[in-house]
Amino acid sequence: MENKIKELLSQMTIEEKISFCSGHDAWHAESLRRLGIPEIMMCDGPHGLRKRDKNEQGEYYTVKATCFPPASAMANSWDPSLAGRVGKYIGEECKAEQVSILLGPGMNIKRSPTCGRNFEYYSEDPYLSGKVAAGFINGLQGEGIAACAKHFCVNNQETRRFSTSANVSERALYEIYLPSFEIAVKEANVQTIMHSYNRINGHYVSEDKELITDTLRGKWGFNGYVMSDWNAMSSRVPAYKAGTDVEMPPCSGLRDAEVLEAYKNGEITMEEIDNSVTNVLRVIFRHLPNGEKGTFSVDEHHSAAAKAAEECMVLLKNDNNVLPFESGKPLAVIGGFAKKPRFQGGGSSHVEPLRVDDITEYLNAENGIEITYADGYDEKHTTNPELIAEAVEAAKKCGRAVIFAGMPDSYETEGRDRRHMKLPPAHNELIEAVCTACENVVVVLMAGSPNELPWVDKAPAIMHAYLGGQALGGAVARILFGKVNPSGKLAETHPVRFEDNPAYLNFPGDGDECFYGEDIYVGYRYYDKKKMDVLFPFGHGLSYTRFEYTSINADGNTVTVTVKNIGARVGKEVVQLYASALPHPVTSTYVGESSFGFARPEKWLVGFDKIELAPGEEKEVAFELYDRVFSVYDAKVKDFRVIGGDYAISAAASSRDIRISTTVSVEDDTSFVPVITKNTVFEDLFVDKRYPKAIVDELVKEVLPQFEGDGEEGLNFDEMRRHNGYVLRQKLTTVKSIEKLDEIIERANKKLREYYGK
Ligand code: BGC
Repeated sequence: MENKIKELLSQMTIEEKISFCSGHDAWHAESLRRLGIPEIMMCDGPHGLRKRDKNEQGEYYTVKATCFPPASAMANSWDPSLAGRVGKYIGEECKAEQVSILLGPGMNIKRSPTCGRNFEYYSEDPYLSGKVAAGFINGLQGEGIAACAKHFCVNNQETRRFSTSANVSERALYEIYLPSFEIAVKEANVQTIMHSYNRINGHYVSEDKELITDTLRGKWGFNGYVMSDWNAMSSRVPAYKAGTDVEMPPCSGLRDAEVLEAYKNGEITMEEIDNSVTNVLRVIFRHLPNGEKGTFSVDEHHSAAAKAAEECMVLLKNDNNVLPFESGKPLAVIGGFAKKPRFQGGGSSHVEPLRVDDITEYLNAENGIEITYADGYDEKHTTNPELIAEAVEAAKKCGRAVIFAGMPDSYETEGRDRRHMKLPPAHNELIEAVCTACENVVVVLMAGSPNELPWVDKAPAIMHAYLGGQALGGAVARILFGKVNPSGKLAETHPVRFEDNPAYLNFPGDGDECFYGEDIYVGYRYYDKKKMDVLFPFGHGLSYTRFEYTSINADGNTVTVTVKNIGARVGKEVVQLYASALPHPVTSTYVGESSFGFARPEKWLVGFDKIELAPGEEKEVAFELYDRVFSVYDAKVKDFRVIGGDYAISAAASSRDIRISTTVSVEDDTSFVPVITKNTVFEDLFVDKRYPKAIVDELVKEVLPQFEGDGEEGLNFDEMRRHNGYVLRQKLTTVKSIEKLDEIIERANKKLREYYGK
């Protein structure tokens, strides 16, 4: 292929090359028939194919496709292989429509629970988000369809999305906002990346060379092409120079002229243009449709969507074992969402579903029960006392009820952020009234994001269906009646109040400036650090059985955890592994003195596995601890750095349900030669293992006599160590000779360089 591309480049005119770096139209990459390069099609998704086509009358319509659960639900499965199977099914539908690139997955971090597009994103945690996304990409690309990881990056709000600047620290950028993309590149070789609309620290992403060329391609090895989000490119020449390859959609040749001019006056080189054309051609040749329209079974895909939905729903609460429902008894089914469910969000990801389940039919059909249905609220989701009274009567008559509530379509859409986390008042009032009149009430929520639940203590059971895709009906019914044991776990924290969330003070920012004041403390990292109560924690989800965590062992980098099903039903457990930095034995005495000056979250997710266990069955799960588990991003050295010390490794059923822990000791990363200066924190010399003891001892021996006096006056060794953050400079008033001191320090640095062979 490389030779073919070289050959093509030699035959293309400069104008053809430039036009190749924008699309042919909104949904196609550029073609060049003269040289046999066809146009390939790209379409939105990602939880189903959204292909725009023209009918015989020349009118646009969206081709029908299977609507699988959107990302916010898929992440609750904590199952990358399931995401892979969904990717494969969507790939089959792409092949049936001769589509080469699917514009997804969306993998931005859920910074605020009110971002309008959260339903399209996976998680507040970068590791979980990256792993599930990589599963999806592998499944899709396995079918020969290129995925597109979007929106790269720090695109966490819809408000002023074309102009806002995400003002974020380098550490939060690399530890929170980039890793999921990094996993998509390294573990799934994602073929295209869509850069986002926003700016980061004042610069448009498309023009950020450090991100696009140095990080994405250089550090991570991305080998596909980078396209703009639709109309996201601010200036084409600087974007080219930063490494962005393609502008989407094309802008009628106007900007091609700009680039040609820049080429003529030497601002941009042929090599830079050739690089981009090469990147695009590689993807085109790897993903050419084979000319034959594939086929797929609509029924099979619907069942697959239902199976996926089953794994994504989360049983939040189940007091008195209200669930699973017994068959054969009457049931009040309340709420319009039972018949017309919420199953996806609005905007460019909106799939035209092949069919949509009416949940009441599944409740009836699968369980042979007598159902009394009541609307509960009207189509506009406004309060209607008559409908509430009717619902209360139905619940009383049946003695048990399930209420379907959640956020209406208008609440969750691309282009708008919510101003609050509330459900429609009509839904809250309905739930309060029914729970007051009836003891056995189950609330099934449908929404792509968390909400405040003022009635949470009154409803004995709550199941969150998230947005379950077109086939959610069977999944809901099977879980409610215990034919399927719920196994979803929350991929995001549900806070008690909107005001509790980490981004609350800084979302969506002042005008076009959004300050990421919470820094690395996103999601559970924040709630844990602040020891706040939450409504439902990250990783939470109940089952109809119980699991016991019987042992944990660490052997080198391998951690094994044994889990046993001690209940009476078959069930799946998501075993979660978290790391925490243990306080350093010397420095932990004082606030802020841990991990050599790096603040760390209370815990962070470093592994997970979903296993199925029969009653009484026990399984061992193995996890590999990788370097990044113990690293922080050190902006001073512009890289991740392992911080040595003791760490707790804990196996948990949720981020707030740690079951069993062990400790591992980690050596410092010695690849960065430390430098000693007058501003080096004295204590670091003793606890940071990168400073060899012999060199430090020698330095101390030589340095001490350079200071006059003792105790208060001079350099007192113990005092220097005791005081938080003392540096040598603090005692310079008593130093005999600054030159001599400099000399001693430089000698120590020389020894350090020799020690590290640099
Ligand atoms: C969205 C992208 C989408 C594109 C094409 C943009 O507005 O942000 O996610 O792929 O439109 O529809």
